[in-house]
Amino acid sequence: MTLENLHPSLSSLPLFLTVGVTESKLSFFGDLVQIKKQLISVISLCKERGLLHSAKASELAFALDRLPKDELPPSPPFTEDDAQDLDALTLAKSYFDLKEYDRAAYFLKGCCSQKAYFLYMYSRYLSGEKKKDDETVDSLGPLEKGQVRNEALRELRVELSKKHIAGELDGFTLYLYGVVLRKLDLLKEAVEVFVEAIHSLPLHWGAWLELSNLVTNIEMLKSLSLPDCWIKDFFMAHMYTELQMIKEALQKYQNLIEAGFSKSTYIISQIAVAYHNIRDIDQALALFNELREQDPYRIDNMDTFSNLLYVKSMKPELSYLAHNLVEIDKYRVETCCVIGNYYSLRSQHEKAALYFQRALKLNPRCLGAWTLMGHEYMEMKNTSAAIQAYRHAIEVNKRDYRAWYGLGQTYEILKMPFYCLYYYRKAHQLRPNDSRMLVALGESYEKLSQQVEAKKCYWRAYSVGDVEKMALLKLAKLHEQLNESDDAAQCYMLYIQDIFSCGEQLEHAEVSTALRYLGQYYFKNKLYDEASLCAQRCCDYNDAREEGKALLRQISQVRDQIETPSADLFAPLSNNNTPVRRVSPLNLISFTP
Ligand SMILES: *[C@@H]1O[C@H](CO)[C@@H](O)[C@H](O)[C@H]1NC(C)=O
Ligand SMILES: *[C@@H]1O[C@H](CO)[C@@H](O)[C@H](O)[C@H]1NC(C)=O
Ligand SMILES: *[C@@H]1O[C@H](CO)[C@@H](O)[C@H](O)[C@H]1NC(C)=O
Repeated sequence: MTLENLHPSLSSLPLFLTVGVTESKLSFFGDLVQIKKQLISVISLCKERGLLHSAKASELAFALDRLPKDELPPSPPFTEDDAQDLDALTLAKSYFDLKEYDRAAYFLKGCCSQKAYFLYMYSRYLSGEKKKDDETVDSLGPLEKGQVRNEALRELRVELSKKHIAGELDGFTLYLYGVVLRKLDLLKEAVEVFVEAIHSLPLHWGAWLELSNLVTNIEMLKSLSLPDCWIKDFFMAHMYTELQMIKEALQKYQNLIEAGFSKSTYIISQIAVAYHNIRDIDQALALFNELREQDPYRIDNMDTFSNLLYVKSMKPELSYLAHNLVEIDKYRVETCCVIGNYYSLRSQHEKAALYFQRALKLNPRCLGAWTLMGHEYMEMKNTSAAIQAYRHAIEVNKRDYRAWYGLGQTYEILKMPFYCLYYYRKAHQLRPNDSRMLVALGESYEKLSQQVEAKKCYWRAYSVGDVEKMALLKLAKLHEQLNESDDAAQCYMLYIQDIFSCGEQLEHAEVSTALRYLGQYYFKNKLYDEASLCAQRCCDYNDAREEGKALLRQISQVRDQIETPSADLFAPLSNNNTPVRRVSPLNLISFTP
């Protein structure tokens, strides 16, 4: 049993304690010595309580300069209660470390110190979690929706809520109370309790991380009343990444680096993840390579690294990473995901699905694995299994736009356009500026004959920077279908410009389609110079050459009959109020395919 159950977020960080300074932003970080002391203190508090995430706080502390001996923080005060519970606590902690949670709880019953009480409740909680997971693995397999519950939760809630009302919970037990509430799906109460826990113990990162999983949008984030501690900056940066506000996130991380955390592998990994989220793949890859150099046995976040290698089809690198991680620890969720990606890239989808399944056996709350498994089932055309996998992903994290998008794709295959629209909309809400969501949404509208909406989506996809260079083509074709020839021509023209301006040759580019249409369009509008230009360009393409030649012949026939001066090139082509910029067809000359 690891603490992954408590911290389902894929990226994880530290926990610390004590309040920071409450002046201007910069002064939070003015005193790095103070921060280091706080980190050292909270690491020991967490260790005593069996909160394994203290390892992450150690990571952050390691990034800061060493403290001289007389600067080291003193041990926490030792109370009368602590003295009284010392023997029971020592015994119970040994059992706890051996994962014998029931036994630990048994010996802690009746202890009176805060520390013993936390370990008592926490042991009972973990015992329930372990039994639940064992049950899931034994009987059902991760795909079945067994709704196995942690049986301890209800009792824990009753006891903790009594103490809560009496004001007897400290920062750690408030945190545990929040976790119990969250597990019981009492999300509103959970948010309140986590906020309380954070106020009581601001440097306990576990509470911030739990809270981050419950914040669904920026309005909710703004409405939270949070203490003004330096750790809030880490939280906000994490939150911005989660809410896909990558520019803001990168700015925050930059500030943290400048404030003195430049050696933190946590921050490097977070920035790499942020670049991954905006699909700045080269930047992200560079950072992950740096991370591997500084921390070669690290397994955290390597699944994200492998997603990037996958997208870039970097087979040898992905193979190397997979073998390397297997050598370090083959039974880690991240390792299984990397191997899954490796097989997926080799089109061995059944094997890939097997490894994602293994990841989920290790941690059923592993969001990435659910989504990736959904993709594998899609590849295998197993839509029902794909839907289940995506639904699980969303259960774990409602903000996972890839899962919403995957559901949209699945229902598209099932030819259920209304569902499809619903899911793409959700994905779009989470990533309003992602052209892939917009194009998918446009296609759904088109299937439902809602052409006006479809046009808006395609246009917007182009406006936000169409990564796949598909939106204009689709818009042009839609206009073409609707006999809106002026609009279609404008879109095709923009499309050609867009394709050539991006420099590289795109596999799916349909420049010849656009040129063919434009040739005919100008011909019909008696703009023979332009028509002739397009026809000539058509001859550069195998699939349009014949048509180009035919058009050239037609043009010369017409020209022989009547000598017409060409119309003003810069005059509007129609008085239709199209949304598109007017582009002179002569711009075509400068395109060099
Ligand atoms: C889809 O996948 C599930 C889970 O692996 C499996 O039980 C089911 O037989 C598969 N269905 C098809 C049609 O392959
Ligand atoms: C999307 O882009 C608009 C305009 O460029 C911007 O105001 C908005 O903050 C962006 N939204 C996200 C979630 O990035
Ligand atoms: C477009 O024009 C063609 C031929 O003139 C016609 O058959 C078709 O019905 C028109 N389509 C629309 C949507 O008006």
